[in-house]
Amino acid sequence: MQPDISYHPDLAKLRARTARRLAEDPTLPQRPLPAGFPPSISGPIVWEGSDWTDESQWVYTLTTPHLHEIDCALAHFESLDKPLGFIARDTFPLPTLAPELRTLAAVLYSGRGFFVLREIPVDKYSPRELAIVYAGISAHIGSGRGRQDGTNAVLAHIKDLRVSHAHVKGATGNSAYTADAQVFHTDIGDLIALLGIQTAAHGGVSRISSSARVYNEIAATRPDLVAVLADDWPLDRFGRTPAYVNRPVLYNADGHIVIQYSRRQLTGYGAQPRSPHIPPLSEAQAEALDTLHFLADKHALALNFKKGDIQYINSLGLLHARDAFTDDTEHRRHLVRLWLRNDELAWKTPAPLEEIWRNLYSVPPEAQRFPLEPEIRKLESGATK
Ligand SMILES: [Fe+2]
Repeated sequence: MQPDISYHPDLAKLRARTARRLAEDPTLPQRPLPAGFPPSISGPIVWEGSDWTDESQWVYTLTTPHLHEIDCALAHFESLDKPLGFIARDTFPLPTLAPELRTLAAVLYSGRGFFVLREIPVDKYSPRELAIVYAGISAHIGSGRGRQDGTNAVLAHIKDLRVSHAHVKGATGNSAYTADAQVFHTDIGDLIALLGIQTAAHGGVSRISSSARVYNEIAATRPDLVAVLADDWPLDRFGRTPAYVNRPVLYNADGHIVIQYSRRQLTGYGAQPRSPHIPPLSEAQAEALDTLHFLADKHALALNFKKGDIQYINSLGLLHARDAFTDDTEHRRHLVRLWLRNDELAWKTPAPLEEIWRNLYSVPPEAQRFPLEPEIRKLESGATK
């Protein structure tokens, strides 16, 4: 039977579960770490929210000459008369900004794992021009663009679609399309880019947390949970075939700690509850899952999204979450997401993720789709998920 655990983590339930499990087996914290996992990780990607004092530490503000270069690159790309999938470093040339973006890409893979680019004049562009500008700048961070649905969309709009898309099945089965909080998780793929087109009236703060920092605390206090996280978990595929897949949540990829999971696939969410006929989580997994969430929350850094910001994060090395938000008529939170990868700088992809990653970054330029308006992600059949 599935343990008493839901999408929204409950600290009281975690505490009770931990107390119960330790009462049953007080030797759990004395278990050794599993093979291949060190007692602790160090390096610039190991940080906590309180280490940061000022957003100037991670915000890179574009200058007037940069913005002019971006406009020239946009005109150049338009002059080529090519489909948007051909947006690349060479078709969107940025003479002086490109070297800066290369340095920032290295920050994602071998530095702190995140930065914010400020600020794109989003109101000045048409939706198509903005897609070109966004994908063009981002091509210099990572030239691989990930498939975000079954119809080869490589651009996704993150917005509360409950009212505008209420008729679409699946609209409320994913918290990304609601105003609800999104608890700590990672996306699939290497890098996430989020462009803020509009911010909410209230809330919607974005939170990021170092997976290696979370790992260090679990390894030091509950090495038994490291073993649980590195073992296989039954991930719900919500009615697809096969009905579930097994894979770990935690990996050591050549010395990089990688945490990769979506809580939704473990607990269900909203209109998509956990499928009844697949293996349940164990009590140990339920404890490990909530432990991850609350440690990520404890050490998180809050990023204040501004209109025109692009937030880039390394999704292999950082967890992220979002607070619930409230829109009003003038402030309807609207982000646009790209999934990117920089092949030259990339970490080794953990073996159980290789096939997913291969499929993710396999959309040829002529097949890439750039939806200019919000839509619910579609399966290949056209059904939504
Ligand atoms: Fe996400």
